[in-house]
Amino acid sequence: MVGSNQMNQIKSLKEVFWLNPNYSSFPSIVNDLPLSYEDILEAEKRLKRFAPFIEKIFTETVDGIIESPISPIDSMKAKMEKDYGCKIYGNLILKRDDLLPIAGSIKARGGIYEVLKHAETLAIKNNLLSIYDNYSILAKDRFKDFFSNYIIQVGSTGNLGLSIGIMSAKIGFKVIVHMSQDAKKWKKDLLRSKGVEVIEYSSDYSKAVEEGRKQSESNPNSHFIDDENSKALFLGYAVGGLRIKEQLKRMGIIVDEDHPLFVYLPCGVGGGPGGVAYGLKFIYGDNVHCFFAEPTHSPAMLLGLMTGLHDKISVDDFGLDNITEADGLAVGRPSSFVGKIMDKLLSGIFTIGDNKLYTFLTALANEEEIFLEPSALAGFLGPVFLSSEEGEEYLAKQDILNKRDNITHMCWATGGSLVPESIMKEYYRKGK
Ligand SMILES: Cc1ncc(COP(=O)(O)O)c(C=O)c1O
Repeated sequence: MVGSNQMNQIKSLKEVFWLNPNYSSFPSIVNDLPLSYEDILEAEKRLKRFAPFIEKIFTETVDGIIESPISPIDSMKAKMEKDYGCKIYGNLILKRDDLLPIAGSIKARGGIYEVLKHAETLAIKNNLLSIYDNYSILAKDRFKDFFSNYIIQVGSTGNLGLSIGIMSAKIGFKVIVHMSQDAKKWKKDLLRSKGVEVIEYSSDYSKAVEEGRKQSESNPNSHFIDDENSKALFLGYAVGGLRIKEQLKRMGIIVDEDHPLFVYLPCGVGGGPGGVAYGLKFIYGDNVHCFFAEPTHSPAMLLGLMTGLHDKISVDDFGLDNITEADGLAVGRPSSFVGKIMDKLLSGIFTIGDNKLYTFLTALANEEEIFLEPSALAGFLGPVFLSSEEGEEYLAKQDILNKRDNITHMCWATGGSLVPESIMKEYYRKGK
């Protein structure tokens, strides 16, 4: 049932906290899911095969594994409690995908994975590589020459383009990134400086994807990385979810029936947060509760899930303008591939006004000296919402209200380290 009250709030750009009425116990839905645990493990194995190559060409990685740390953010928690006059029960931590090597955002997980998978498929098909080789040979000129015969294309609001552009250019592919009007100038400039062709559109993200797809289809040597539909992208993100298990274990953080994990993920088209949530569910099942965060001006996934219409509805149909400072989340129409997977797996979605992205940005900088891009702050409203009446309702329904002191809240910081200093200063000033 779609609450008409919430629909009206969405239309009038009010922040909402929507609890998914279709949310189901993970064991009851796992057999109906389109990708298996083995598929995620396979993706993880492929990334390991590439580790010697990545280590060689991106010296900033540790052992060629592209991963980010997790930071405790106790001061930020205290600041949020003070600013919002609420009690955040449990522990607050931050997953630092802003620090992911190479492309500094969550989109590096899927984007880089799909580029590598494509390169591997081509090289194996042409008898240049076997999965038993040491993949550091891929850095040799003969491979670069080979890959230069192929094109990779992608439509992006910015960060996916960055991750694909940077990795593809290193491998030797020719790359074309189709970018929407919301994409920040510095992201376009950075890509061009890496030798990537950037085509700009005066329309939004969905149009950039559509154009890219069309142009790629007309060339048999071109591969289109489809942010709306790609299983490979999704699996790349899902590996990020799997790896949380070891990280939390090392930090001494328990996740079990008595110690729930709540994860708050900024959402654009849905692939990044959807894939991560998917991986997390395979690890923790019903003990992890995943929420997406979207700007009040671009609640695409929220509308898709609430109405069950997925990509048959856009924010425009709701009279919303899809204009937000959170460029990575400026998506008007959600992925139906991801939406259908999330239908029973996602606990809920909340929206956040742009002004709060900035106040969180500045607070996090002041309290923790962590600097994120605006999109990456969207999840911070999650722990605040969870302390509200609706949050308590959710906890009671899940039978964990009496365990809320044991909750670990994890906000997923989805990007930021590549933002130029002058622009970050401007963001900080705005938040102040
Ligand atoms: C910083 C940042 N956070 C979150 C997202 C959302 O990812 P997705 O569009 O896959 O939902 C993006 C997308 O580009 C992003 O750039």
